[in-house]
Amino acid sequence: MKKKELIEKINKLKNEKNAIILAHTYQNAEIDEVADFSGDSLYLSRQAAKTDADIIVFAGVYFMAETAKILSPKKTVLLPNINAGCDMADKINLKQLREFKVKYPDIPVVCYVNSTAEVKSESDICCTSANAINVVRSLNTKDVLFVPDQNLGTYVESQLEGVNVITYPGYCPIHHRITTEDIKGQKTVHSNAKIMVHPECTKEVTAMADFVGSTTAIIKAVKESNDKSFIIVTEKGVVDRLHRDCPDKEFVLINEKAVCDSMKLLHLEDIYSSLVNNEFEINVDETIAKKAKIAIDRMIKVNA
Ligand code: 13P
Ligand code: SF4
Repeated sequence: MKKKELIEKINKLKNEKNAIILAHTYQNAEIDEVADFSGDSLYLSRQAAKTDADIIVFAGVYFMAETAKILSPKKTVLLPNINAGCDMADKINLKQLREFKVKYPDIPVVCYVNSTAEVKSESDICCTSANAINVVRSLNTKDVLFVPDQNLGTYVESQLEGVNVITYPGYCPIHHRITTEDIKGQKTVHSNAKIMVHPECTKEVTAMADFVGSTTAIIKAVKESNDKSFIIVTEKGVVDRLHRDCPDKEFVLINEKAVCDSMKLLHLEDIYSSLVNNEFEINVDETIAKKAKIAIDRMIKVNA
């Protein structure tokens, strides 16, 4: 099928089935052509919570679809490729979280939304990269346990005075392997470029940033800036989006390995077959979903 025809068919199916498509910033550019909402995890969670649609097609990874199902349990949530996982979310399971809590008793647990429903159900509050600082601040406590991303937790601690963030040793392999040498190398070639970093990067890398923020925050900061040249230190999807939205500015991806294979699994054909066959439906155990929803609802109330 030609691309134009595929897009028309997807749009027709969306209308017939009262479906919406939520797409994360890291998705392949073609997905944007059928997406109703594109953005970061926090923005998409908010859309999932308030939509009137009967079907949510989540163009993203498993934990995002799971979060949408928890927020809108009566709706059908579809993940077009069931293999779209997240290496960071897989870094901690329920047993490991319980062991971590036993080691540090009576300390509230903040879990990054890049985690399983079970881990969310055992946490006090969720956060995304957009609102992590405000979520931890909202707890108003001296000590906080932060899972699974050690880098985001460490970044949050650096931004808050008097808060001790005890981090679990998880990380996103795509962001964690970016080095200060990568930045220095790009800076040598693009000396005037501003360095825009996602907080899943290590503290050595965020320390070199001109700006640190979620995917949406990076895009917004670039658009509002008078600068013309940027080194983008996160996944390639952000660079692709910025090329589309800001053709008059220059963007350099930190290195060619900054690609999340899971996020790139989806193509228009997958969205089409997901709508035709109602695949793959995401369900969450009711007891776990109820507990996880408390942590996610608390997060949604906290501003970015
Ligand atoms: P955002 O919070 O910017 O959507 O990032 C999610 C993510 O998976 C980054 O790797
Ligand atoms: Fe997970 Fe990293 Fe991919 Fe984000 S970029 S979805 S954290 S593996």
